[in-house]
Amino acid sequence: MTNTDSFSQMADDVTGTSPVASFAVVILAAGSGTRLGYGIPKAAVQHSGKTLLEWALAGVDASGVASRIVVTVPTDDTALTNIAADYGALTVSGGSSRAESVALALSALDNAPVRSGFSSDAPSHVLIHDAARSFTPVEVFHRVCQSLSSGQAAVIPVLPVVDTIKTVDADGYVRSTVQRSVLRSVQTPQGFHFKTLLGAYRQAEEQGLSDEITDDASVAEMCGIPVKTVLGDFRSLKITVAEDLALASALKLADELSAVSEKD
Ligand code: C5P
Repeated sequence: MTNTDSFSQMADDVTGTSPVASFAVVILAAGSGTRLGYGIPKAAVQHSGKTLLEWALAGVDASGVASRIVVTVPTDDTALTNIAADYGALTVSGGSSRAESVALALSALDNAPVRSGFSSDAPSHVLIHDAARSFTPVEVFHRVCQSLSSGQAAVIPVLPVVDTIKTVDADGYVRSTVQRSVLRSVQTPQGFHFKTLLGAYRQAEEQGLSDEITDDASVAEMCGIPVKTVLGDFRSLKITVAEDLALASALKLADELSAVSEKD
């Protein structure tokens, strides 16, 4: 069974209908990785025999949802460009902020090659995924795509927050305690109706893309677009500091993703 077939089958099983939506995927891999401390872009860091970008691409591939893939890479990074090409993805040089990288990728999406087994029609939806969430299980991609297929314009995977969260002032004194039951921590892939997200980013660009935009749902929210949540997964942790790689090893996340990829 190809990945495309498996996604169609999975969608049929759950919704009883075939998906009419088609999904492009943007993978953001142009970050510097300063906090990880390897002195190379984070996406180029090796873990269990592959770079973090390869693991992210392997997860997208195993999900079977991507008709086209665009990857943002640091300017002139031929190693990451070659890795993306192996997965039939188009690469674009990233911008100076995550939001700028997303805007550049969205503008390039029409030029991305159509992946084998998919229609050449323009994708109706786009998923934006951080390469730093290198081990996201395929089920999370499927939950986001199913919710989009059912008519949601914007969908994000989330987890309940277990810690108590407080706001503090510049001197380190607590200002307030936020009611925990309404808090969610937010992951990727975040999925959107393509033209809706493109319009939202164009509007945000006119107002000046801010470094404070750390996820795409915020851009949709600014434009008044309702954002639906679906369940994320602890395995979709964001590799940020060296301890996150140790955690990924302890949880054997690479082994798990390899097993899924080999099955397809
Ligand atoms: O900086 P942050 O951890 O939020 O980055 C999330 C993702 O966005 C990472 O996968 C990183 O490579 C990517 N990124 C990018 N372009 C930037 C900054 C970050 O593609 N200018």
